[in-house]
Amino acid sequence: MTPITAFLLPGLHNSGPDHWQSVWERTDPTCRRLVQADWATPRCSDWAAVLDAAVVAHDGPVVLVAHSSSNITVAAWARSASPAALAKVRGALLVAPSDPDGPAYPAGPSGFSPVPLQRLPFRSIVVASTNDEYCTIETARAYAAAWGSEFVDVGARGHINGDSGLGDWPDGRALLAQLRAEPRAAAAAPPKRVFMVGATGTIGRATVRALVRHGHEVVCFVRAKRGRDVVIPGATVRTGDVTKAESIARDGLCGERFEAVVSCMASRTGGSQDAWAVDHDAQQHLLQAAKAAGVSQFVLLSAICVQKPLLAFQHAKLAFEKALMTSGLTYSIVRPTAFFKSISGQVKRVQQGKPFLLFGDGTLTACKPISDDDLAEFLATCLTDASRANRVLPIGGPGPAVTLRQQGELLFTLAGKPPRFTRVPVAMFDGIIGVLRTLGMVIPPLRDKAEFAAIGRYYATESMLLWDPVAQRYDADATPSFGGETLASHYARLLRGEIADDRGEHAVF
Ligand SMILES: NC(=O)c1ccc[n+]([C@@H]2O[C@H](COP(=O)([O-])OP(=O)(O)OC[C@H]3O[C@@H](n4cnc5c(N)ncnc54)[C@H](OP(=O)(O)O)[C@@H]3O)[C@@H](O)[C@H]2O)c1
Repeated sequence: MTPITAFLLPGLHNSGPDHWQSVWERTDPTCRRLVQADWATPRCSDWAAVLDAAVVAHDGPVVLVAHSSSNITVAAWARSASPAALAKVRGALLVAPSDPDGPAYPAGPSGFSPVPLQRLPFRSIVVASTNDEYCTIETARAYAAAWGSEFVDVGARGHINGDSGLGDWPDGRALLAQLRAEPRAAAAAPPKRVFMVGATGTIGRATVRALVRHGHEVVCFVRAKRGRDVVIPGATVRTGDVTKAESIARDGLCGERFEAVVSCMASRTGGSQDAWAVDHDAQQHLLQAAKAAGVSQFVLLSAICVQKPLLAFQHAKLAFEKALMTSGLTYSIVRPTAFFKSISGQVKRVQQGKPFLLFGDGTLTACKPISDDDLAEFLATCLTDASRANRVLPIGGPGPAVTLRQQGELLFTLAGKPPRFTRVPVAMFDGIIGVLRTLGMVIPPLRDKAEFAAIGRYYATESMLLWDPVAQRYDADATPSFGGETLASHYARLLRGEIADDRGEHAVF
């Protein structure tokens, strides 16, 4: 049987004669190089278009063999390619992916950052070296985690290119042979029919995108809001009242078969009454309606802070988590650390030349921020990753934990301004909470204000990291990491105006 064709995708400046890709091309007629018009200052989308055209035109299955920047092209292409084109890809060998936000990355190429970090819909193997100037091994590992790739560390081999002295690179050929041999059925789990709530929120929107990318059929159940016409690409939208069991069954589930529920619904205010109504009661109605409709799996977006519950919304979430765990459904309870939007509130201040506000000295708390898309990817893969079934899953983003002071220092560095900090005493919250609670006894609306101040105090004093109940401390090292999008690249994009602050209606989270 003729081996499956391998498309060779070189990185910037093409692969020279000593590069293993060129050796393979010379010695193996089943390896074919894809030729780009611009090798020095390309647009990622142009490279992806060449890949798309080659896959579409090819008759039969292919394996992609990418090097350096072309790995990003593969990830970008996989996000937008047609199902028919994706179905032809047996696998991808992703060698020495480069980090377009890293210090050695050249100026000129565009569209390679941010690196698309969704799970790839085909089997893939990332191969990385420990002394690659274009990408740290940690970053390469994070790409592999996000792409759902196997990971191979080849030791100190530089950029795994012509200078690495690999010749025909037999180890690489063995990996290619593995990908060619892998039957397609083993690569991807079958898609599911998913009932989604909270699809209009920050994480919900990203999660629908991830679910659709994975090929799931998604029905979003949203509440009607005046002047809002919800359209979610790739998903069906139904409108009703998520807080009422009858409406969930009648207007949402509609007597149809669904395999899973994904809930990113959460109180938009965190006020005591709304938190119990949404984070507990509405979720309970959803769970009961889902059970009655024969749904077998439930993925819940929760929060890491419920491990030390002091606030109304945390108690409400915990009570529902407990109900879900004993429901008999297969569950994944995802408890993330801080979202990017929650620690971006001072970007404008810094841009305007104002000082960065610290609680205490700015080292009271730390978190491992996770991007919307990375968290969405994690949530979406709970549907098919058996190791995440029936588990509570604390999750943070890549890299070490950052304190509030470090967030400020990072912002000033990226904005090119000298750091300026103003300290705010935490005791300030105690005074405000005390006054509002007292007044709330006679003026009920002030009770919510007191709760918001208590939420503010909580985040000023408690870390968003895994809590070690024995040692009675937060443990950054024990807090799992997922994904590859960094806070630094998010801040840089906010500062450049490429993206907007998405805190929306959230005042305090
Ligand atoms: N911010 C952080 O750093 C952080 C960290 C860890 C965990 N979390 C947790 O993440 C959750 C917030 O996620 P997010 O920022 O993506 O939320 P979000 O943007 O505020 O979205 C909330 C979603 O819930 C829906 N919803 C709220 N009340 C509803 C109601 N009464 N009826 C129907 N739908 C309702 C909203 O729909 P509408 O569009 O119709 O309002 C929206 O789709 C919270 O549980 C929070 O504890 C946050």
